[in-house]
Amino acid sequence: MLNGKHIILGITGSIAAYKAAMLCRLLVKEGAEVRVIMTPLAKQFITPLTMATLSKHPILVEFFNPENGEWNSHVSLGEWADMLLIAPATANTLAKMTTGIADNLLLTTYLSARSKVAVAPAMDLDMYAHITTQQNLATLKERGVAIIEPAAGELASGLVGKGRMAEPEDIVEQVKAIFAEGEKKKTLEGKRYIVTAGATIERIDPVRYITNHSTGKMGYAIAEELAKRGAEVKLISGRTTLPIPQGVERIDTLSAEDMYNAAVREWREADGAVMCAAVADYTPVTVADKKLKKSDDDMRIELRRTKDIAKELGANKEGRVLVGFALETDNEEANAQGKLVRKNLDFVVLNSLRDAGAGFRGDTNKITIIDHNGAEEHPLMSKREAAAVIVDKIETLK
Ligand code: C5P
Repeated sequence: MLNGKHIILGITGSIAAYKAAMLCRLLVKEGAEVRVIMTPLAKQFITPLTMATLSKHPILVEFFNPENGEWNSHVSLGEWADMLLIAPATANTLAKMTTGIADNLLLTTYLSARSKVAVAPAMDLDMYAHITTQQNLATLKERGVAIIEPAAGELASGLVGKGRMAEPEDIVEQVKAIFAEGEKKKTLEGKRYIVTAGATIERIDPVRYITNHSTGKMGYAIAEELAKRGAEVKLISGRTTLPIPQGVERIDTLSAEDMYNAAVREWREADGAVMCAAVADYTPVTVADKKLKKSDDDMRIELRRTKDIAKELGANKEGRVLVGFALETDNEEANAQGKLVRKNLDFVVLNSLRDAGAGFRGDTNKITIIDHNGAEEHPLMSKREAAAVIVDKIETLK
């Protein structure tokens, strides 16, 4: 399974470093070629000799060999690797990875690596549970780093809790799963998809605007999933704070009208579209060019309808894939059915704000897929998993 795979095993300064010996042995046994990079502190926990013997290659720690000045190129290491696996990964290394600190060979290699990256955290339970560590892990995950979750159990400190590094056998299984995921067939190769995502912003004056709670997370996850399966993806995005997913081209828009123009333009060349954005239905009739001043009277802002992007694409569908969303608070399925027909969609992904964990802001969603044959309800899952379900459904349309 790991035959011929190039794996850089990064070892950091944790007591769990002793398990890296077994991990290295297992990876080599599975056919992987392993090069070990240790942080300077890691040498205090396990000897370079042990790791060199098991990996059958000299260990790398410094930027250059102090005896002969030979340079250890993090760039070529990064290029060589099919995976950078950091096990154990300390809180310190995880923090440096999130901020881009590059003060040892392992961290410079991380920044140069084009390969998959996986980390197996190991630390005391309080360090692991600390908001800083949790946020760092969430950031790394968002950037595509695979997190191999620590197990709960007795820790070196004598305390019992979550923080001990996953067992080497489990890490190897997860490494295999990560490779298997990456080698999945690119089923959407050659297909061009557009995805709208996030909230639009309708200006009232130079200071104020009308918007909504959408974060764009669901649409971004769909764009990422489509790209993972080989599609060429243009993500037409409202304002969000999310990073651009790997392999996706983002087109930034602000108002419903901007988004409409971008979507209509991109639709000409597209094979499919997923309309995930929370588009304003109304926009101010006029935008004041100076800040509106308050007075003692009430104020009225006159609004006019915006154009419905999904409906416009649906009217020019020509056999292409078109998926819409429906966020409802009541009468959910009937409303979603209405959108399916009115906007000429292939299916509608329904979220109900009545379901806990669904809809805005969170990382989870509970979706029901409504098409002309009926409704398919799915359990609560992460938005990434929901994206995979939605893209699976798209693939059945062909
Ligand atoms: O009609 P409603 O806004 O509830 O429909 C939601 C679906 O229509 C979503 O897929 C949304 O992205 C899309 N939509 C759109 N343009 C609008 C309004 C909604 O594309 N102006």
